[in-house]
Amino acid sequence: MRKLKFADQLENLMTKQDTPRKVRKAVFPVAGLGTRFLPASKAVPKEMLTVVDKPVIQYAVSEARAAGIEHFIFVTGRNKHVIEDHFDLAPELQSTLEERGKQAMLDVLAENQPAAGATSFTRQQAPLGLGHAVWCAREIVGDEPFALLLPDMVMKAATPCLAGMMDVYDKTGANIVAVEECAPEDVSSYGIIAPGEGADTDASGGFPIATMVEKPAIADAPSNLFINGRYILQPEIFDLLENQEKGAGGGIQLTDSMLRLMEIQDFSGFTFRGETFDCGSREGFLAANVAFALDDPDLAESTRTMLRKKLG
Ligand code: G1P
Repeated sequence: MRKLKFADQLENLMTKQDTPRKVRKAVFPVAGLGTRFLPASKAVPKEMLTVVDKPVIQYAVSEARAAGIEHFIFVTGRNKHVIEDHFDLAPELQSTLEERGKQAMLDVLAENQPAAGATSFTRQQAPLGLGHAVWCAREIVGDEPFALLLPDMVMKAATPCLAGMMDVYDKTGANIVAVEECAPEDVSSYGIIAPGEGADTDASGGFPIATMVEKPAIADAPSNLFINGRYILQPEIFDLLENQEKGAGGGIQLTDSMLRLMEIQDFSGFTFRGETFDCGSREGFLAANVAFALDDPDLAESTRTMLRKKLG
């Protein structure tokens, strides 16, 4: 492992910061075991479980694509190879559909097909925390800003979360984290930020952040604004992740390295306006299925009828 003294890092970071560059790459950490979904996740990665008719991972990839991302980097683990297959061409399936004249199905497949060479896969070899998973992508990201999307967090909004963040990035060139309000009792499940004094958290151009803390006790939480799983980060985060000490829950926490990055680079908060479903939990996963079904022209009516009947 490369080790830089903090003073050297600081100098590196200060000089690298001047010119904001286009965000072309997105990282998707998908190494988690998904034990909350056993037995479903025993042989099938939890990211491949479906919300209505699309795997969970596809929502984050579509969101990234809609925000202009050109290269999709997956940090996987053992038993996740089917994710790679999902984003590859399927020649036999395609030729069978062509023979049968199933154009609508071919269009569905084409819709989310990354171009040749537009995906990369690397493995997180041990479950050492989100910060470590992100660090595993350092060679593929290289020296450029990148988006980070945690695929468990499935979002629904008129303007997708990452697209809104890109607008802020284009104006500020800053590091950006998207946040939302959570119930006070839920703060210990998330990274929590505190807005700068007097900051307008509704400002469409983002707002300054004073501090952030990973999974605080309720009494220590600086606000109820939680980090919702969408980030735009400068590559200097990798130098900080490299020597990040373990934090909350014994893992290498991205939030801890972002807090250090805040000392030397601008960081903005972006309040996401929309619905977020935490598909890492069974409740969130079910809520997402109901919400997306109610939004699907072919399923809305039957879902409504079914729910009415079930609820009496
Ligand atoms: C991670 C982050 C946390 C963030 C959350 C959003 O936690 O560490 O800051 O709020 O994702 O889902 P995890 O869910 O991996 O425990």
